[in-house]
Amino acid sequence: MASEMGIFETIYNCRAMRKLDSREVPQEDLEKLIGAANQAPSGSNNQNGRWIIVRNQEVKTKLAELNKAGVESYLAPMIKSPGSLSHQPEDKRRRMLEAVIWQKEHMHEIPALIIACIDFGTIPTPQMFAGGNGSIWPGIQNLLLAARALELGAAPTTLALTDRDKVAEVLNLPETVAAYCLIPVGYPLGNFGPVTRKPLSEILRYDTW
Ligand SMILES: Cc1cc2nc3c(=O)[nH]c(=O)nc-3n(C[C@H](O)[C@H](O)[C@H](O)COP(=O)(O)O)c2cc1C
Repeated sequence: MASEMGIFETIYNCRAMRKLDSREVPQEDLEKLIGAANQAPSGSNNQNGRWIIVRNQEVKTKLAELNKAGVESYLAPMIKSPGSLSHQPEDKRRRMLEAVIWQKEHMHEIPALIIACIDFGTIPTPQMFAGGNGSIWPGIQNLLLAARALELGAAPTTLALTDRDKVAEVLNLPETVAAYCLIPVGYPLGNFGPVTRKPLSEILRYDTW
């Protein structure tokens, strides 16, 4: 049973799931994800994370257009030559890019696009905006883990949110609110599986570097 997944099993199997079915996800389950996100810590315990569940077709289509522009300018040129990383060979990288492209074409059909925001209570300076990352990403990760535990597919994305003025217009955001992440959520079309990460021998030090 998905609900019986332990915390470590969930963490180690929480892959970015981009190919999602268009079938509706019950509102109760979407609210469970926001509830989990809302348990995360925030700087000074400000609890200034705000979450928008977008299901309206018109709004989803506008966000999908913004994502398309973001993906095409940033990632599309890599499709011909995706390159490779020491920890991600070219075939895996190509498959990831294909999924990003799939999502670019289908984002408007995904049942829910969750937008992670911060309400600063005042118009944020660039420094405040940058600092907000530390308070919103713990909630985003909680949301991703909760989705995995419910066998829902999800992935953190930012390419749709590059043009902050357009995003604010589409989402009718007050001037005090900034959007940090768009998380498409739905039932997975692909298979769940373990994440592939660098070994501890490469990323861990004791006491000093
Ligand atoms: C800050 C951040 C921004 C990201 N932006 C995007 C994005 O715009 N589009 C996308 O498809 N994935 C995006 N991702 C997902 C990463 O590509 C993904 O987490 C990474 O490839 C690891 O995938 P895996 O967990 O399936 O191994 C983003 C992840 C992070 C942490």
